[in-house]
Formats: sequence, C-alpha cells, structure tokens
Amino acid sequence: MQLIDGKALANKVQEAVSAEVTKLKQEKNIVPGLAVIIVGDDPASHAYVKMKAKACEKVGFYSIVHKMPDTISQEEIIQIINMMNNNPHIHGILVQLPLPKHIDTDRILEVIDPKKDVDGFHAYNVGRMVTGLDSFVACTPLGVMKMFEAYNIDLQGKDVCVVGASNIVGKPMASLLLNANATVTITHIHTKDLRSHTSRADIVVVGVGVPGLIKEDMVKEGAVVIDIGINRIADGSLVGDVDFENVSKKCSYITPVPGGVGPMTIAMLLENTLKSAKQGI
Ligand code: GUN
Repeated sequence: MQLIDGKALANKVQEAVSAEVTKLKQEKNIVPGLAVIIVGDDPASHAYVKMKAKACEKVGFYSIVHKMPDTISQEEIIQIINMMNNNPHIHGILVQLPLPKHIDTDRILEVIDPKKDVDGFHAYNVGRMVTGLDSFVACTPLGVMKMFEAYNIDLQGKDVCVVGASNIVGKPMASLLLNANATVTITHIHTKDLRSHTSRADIVVVGVGVPGLIKEDMVKEGAVVIDIGINRIADGSLVGDVDFENVSKKCSYITPVPGGVGPMTIAMLLENTLKSAKQGI
C-alpha cells in the first residue's frame, strides 16, 4: 500500500505558484488577488477560510475576507460580489459554502463573474468543464486529478466509483474522470446497494461526510481509494469517510485524512487564482 501524500504535493504546488507570483509581479506588476466571502459563524467554515487566507499570504497573493453575520440579506451579499466583480485588484471570488438557509445559493453563485469564479461553481464554468473546454474547475476534484497524475495512476478504461453526487465534489469529479476516459459510476444517498458498486471499482472516490462509511469489505484488493471526507468526531480528532485502518490493508494507494485531499483543495484554489490573474481582467 502506498500513501498518497497530499500535503507534500500541495507544498510543491505552492512553491511553483509562489515562483510564478514573483515573476508576474516583476514582469507585469500584477499581484493576484482573492476575495473570500463568509456568512455566519460555522466554526469549520471559518477554519477553512483561515487556511485559505494563510495560503494566499504564503504565496504572495493579495487577499481580503468579508466576514458577514448570518442576518445579512441576499441583496447585500450580491452587492459585495458586484463590488468584487468590479475591483481590478481582485482576480478570484469565493463564497464559502454552505450559506444560511434564507440565501439562495444558486442565485449567489451565478452573480460571480465567471472570469473570477476560481471555485468553478458558476454554471458557465461547469458547462465548459463537462464539455472538456478550458474552464475554472472546482478545487477539490481538480486536486484529486492532480494526485492521480502525480502518482501515475492511469484512469483510461478504469472502473471508478464516485460516492456522493454533490455539485461541489461528486458531480464535477465524475465529469473529470469521464473526460479522462474512465468508466464512471456515481452513487448517492438513494443508491440501493452501495457495496455492489464500490466493490467492483478499480478506484473509489468518496466525499459524503459520513465517518468510516467505506469499510474493508466494500473495496476490492488492490483498489485505489481517495477519501475526500473531513469529519470531526466526538474525541475531537479528524477522520475521513473511509475506515482507514482496515481499508488501507487492501489498497494499492490510499489518501490519509488529514494530509490527503484537503491540502490539495487549497493548492488548487491558489492555482486557479493565479490562472485568473494571468488571464487578466
Ligand atoms: N465548502 C466546502 N468546500 C468548499 C469549497 O471548495 N469551496 C467553497 N466555496 N465552499 C466550500
């Protein structure tokens, strides 16, 4: 079994981004800028946003975080996004999800200028990604694709089971795998027999937020297992959606939690913001 070291890979990406930022500043006097909007006081969301801001600082980006109370109206969020859309120092806009229930998330995401949509959630970018055109791609699935590439894990013709069909992880993940010529099955909460799908797969990618969902008897010998889940359990520790201790014994490759997909998500946000800055506004 080989561990896929997301942290080490993310550090490499950060170094490369940092070097490009220096070059961009010297040659074009451009500093990549990211605006993050966070609504409410969910501790996990605040922790993620803090990590994102810290990563931006490390590579030399300009970044601002708009922290808004959950009493904010939809119109007020739209006003902030429009300000960021029109701000020439901002190349990337990210609205941390989930948003409070009184806010229409789909409406918010479609207000973001697709050219600054570094999360790849706008329907314009989703459509382009599905058709295989150049686009901003959601950071978590993009990070997983980078991991496959870095570890020379071939996808062509492989049976891949994506567990979870969310707009931010499962659906874009499945599209990217399909574009890489894998045979893709997507399972979700209404799937009748999850094990029948996961146990046939050469590669299992899971991101549902259920600690230990994927057990040893649900994966085949030699499978590649990618764990996107990050769950805080009762004792305060972080665990993924995979029963790592037992499943890892059967795998050819597996990602740990923490230190697997999580750091890659942030690294891809940096890459996407750099890409936007290079494209110009
Ligand atoms: N919430 C959980 N993951 C993400 C992400 O990748 N981007 C945003 N904006 N919100 C999230």
